[in-house]
Amino acid sequence: MAPSAAIPSTAVPIVAIDGPSGSGKGTIARRLAERLDWHLLDSGALYRLVALAGARAGLGTEDVEGHTALARTLQADFGRDPETGGERILLAGEEVTAQVREERSGMGASRVAAWPSVRAALVDRQRAYAQHPGLVADGRDMGTVIFSDAPLKIFLTASADERARRRHKQLKYKESTASLAALSREIAERDERDANRAVAPLRPASDAFVIDSTELTADEVFERVIELGRSKGLWA
Ligand code: C5P
Repeated sequence: MAPSAAIPSTAVPIVAIDGPSGSGKGTIARRLAERLDWHLLDSGALYRLVALAGARAGLGTEDVEGHTALARTLQADFGRDPETGGERILLAGEEVTAQVREERSGMGASRVAAWPSVRAALVDRQRAYAQHPGLVADGRDMGTVIFSDAPLKIFLTASADERARRRHKQLKYKESTASLAALSREIAERDERDANRAVAPLRPASDAFVIDSTELTADEVFERVIELGRSKGLWA
């Protein structure tokens, strides 16, 4: 086999982290971006925003063209709350962080994300995040489609029960009333749609490192990712 090409010094280093919902990839991606002081792309939030913008505009849930137009012109801003340090998501200048994180937006996102025209409308916007000194990209198709030449690809997964438990804890912390049983069903439905859609289905890239985090703490997963990046020469 030919040796893999050296990473050109001008190329932006990218770590692609994909996986199903509740696998912990968001936590790991954020932590890694903070540790390295790299940019962070939360691609799921873009699909969530398209769904939210569609609902706000009164679009029908099957209105592909309408959602595609919204995806093309989406005015999304991501930042940090200056007081709490928590994430802050703006849609056309209005803070929508809480709504974006609701499971309802996750379901809506999964619906619009199955439409090829919506996915196509978000490609350039996602690739524009690849800026020096580096990018950590979190999603479902970061390693397979958007950054298919990323030097490090991680596919993070965990058992369905464990993922539902994690999401429940996360949402409860945000004062949601979602029951564990309902959440389990919704996650299963979302996984099923994400894994079986025709375009960019959820699956590990052939060169991704698959990490099953069911029995691992976030610290242990993080250390594995740090080790992998080190072994690839992405950081010291
Ligand atoms: O990661 P998150 O739960 O925020 O993603 C919400 C939904 O957006 C996913 O269930 C998936 O359908 C969609 N998505 C996607 N491709 C991505 C990121 C998210 O299809 N790169």
